[in-house]
Formats: sequence, C-alpha cells, structure tokens
Amino acid sequence: MAPPSSEEPAAASGAGAISKVLVVIAMQTEALPLVTRFQLVEAAARFPKGAPWTRYHGDYKGLHIDLVWPGKDPVLGVDSVGTVSAALVTYASIQFLKPDLIINAGTAGGFKARGAGIGDVFLASDVAFHDRRIPIPVFDSYGIGARKTFETPNIVKELNLKVGKLSTGDSLDMSPHDETAILSNEATVKDMEGAAVAYVADLFSTPAIFVKAVTDIVDGEKPTAEEFLQNLISVTMALDQAVMQVVDFISGKCISDL
Ligand code: ADE
Repeated sequence: MAPPSSEEPAAASGAGAISKVLVVIAMQTEALPLVTRFQLVEAAARFPKGAPWTRYHGDYKGLHIDLVWPGKDPVLGVDSVGTVSAALVTYASIQFLKPDLIINAGTAGGFKARGAGIGDVFLASDVAFHDRRIPIPVFDSYGIGARKTFETPNIVKELNLKVGKLSTGDSLDMSPHDETAILSNEATVKDMEGAAVAYVADLFSTPAIFVKAVTDIVDGEKPTAEEFLQNLISVTMALDQAVMQVVDFISGKCISDL
C-alpha cells in the first residue's frame, strides 16, 4: 500500500464527534449510486499494486467518507464478492484510513418466514457464518463466528429500520447444510460479506454496522439468482437511500450517540 499522502485524512480522533466513516461495499452496482450521492472522487493514493480494490472519498456534512469496494476479479472481470475480498479490503482500509466507524452496506437474501420482504432494509443486530463447519469442540464456535454488531438503538429508532440477524457464506444459493446453519443462526437476512467484515472490524476494535437491503426471498418460490438480478437495480436505490439516512444521522454525532 502506498504511504498516506497529503490527500489522506489524519488518524482517527478517538473520543468526540465521528469524523471518518468507511463504507465497505461489494458490488459496483451497489457502490456507484453512493459515490454519486456523496459526490465522492476516486482516490489517487492506491492500494497495493495488484489489488483491484478501489477507493472513493470526499467530505459530506462534516464527515470524511471513504467508500471501498474490492473491485473486479483481475481474471474474470466480475465484482470480487464474498468473504475473502471483503476481509482483505476491510483490513487494508482500517490500517490505511483508521476509520471511526465502518458501514458495510449491500444487498442480501431475506427470509419471508422471519418478516423480510423485497426492498426491506435491515440493520444487522448479529452476524455469523453459515458455511464454516468444523465439528470439533470450540473450533465449531470459531467457525460460526457469531458476534453482536455495534449497537445503534438511536439509528434504529430514528430511521425506523428493520433489525435482524445476518448470516454470511460464500454462496448466493443455499445448500441444505447452509439452510440448517442459517436456521441455527436465527438469521433473517443472508449475505456474502458481513461476518467477514465484522471479524476484521472486531480485531481492530472498530465499530461496524451492517445495512442490508433484500433483493431476493430465500424461502420463496423464485430461483435466487434470477430474483436477485431482477431486483438488484431497484433495491440498490433503497439501499442508497438508507445509507444516506444513516450517514445523515451520524453527522455531528459521537459513537455513543448512535
Ligand atoms: N445477496 C443478495 N442476495 C443474496 C443471497 N440470497 N445470498 C447471499 N447474498 C446475497
């Protein structure tokens, strides 16, 4: 990674008003509306050579916003979705940018049996993995990696967002094994990055919140990939709106006000 240049913000300020917000987002389609919304520009200081990770940044209502997405797979040219890329770009961004708060925003599958509908936006109360099965005592819990997210009762109250548990795995579809684990995680929404971002954020004691908009109903009739692609653009608008409301709420506040 290039050393911070003069365009880089100073290190995190600790107590006091939140000044630096890092938005971690997996897909370009999800990221670009927010880049436009916050009038962010692509950062000149690059991540390490070879990493396709991309950063946009700018100032918005007293906050410095960095938005990172893992970029396109260098060989296949598709968005680098999933836990590996999400963890790497989160790690590099925390080291480089020292954010006060991380927002992991993205789309998710939702369970109608738990009250999710297409276009709903959830704030995750808890995250866990559903595809890391290690049936050895203690390793089993490590694999599941269940953790509570940073609590934001005032955001929930003010913005009237739905709250639910998020389960993360590296597949868009859901195998019978995944289904059992997701049920055991009591998840309402399912994504491909959240628990990985939470793991890295926790390692470095950085508060992280998870804003997830539902593109497909996992326990519904439609094939997941088809429903996801059909709803991606419209649901991204709902996500964009929700993230903007969260950022507006954060502006001028301390971490303990959230
Ligand atoms: N993102 C959007 N829909 C998803 C699903 N069904 N599973 C995992 N990630 C998703």
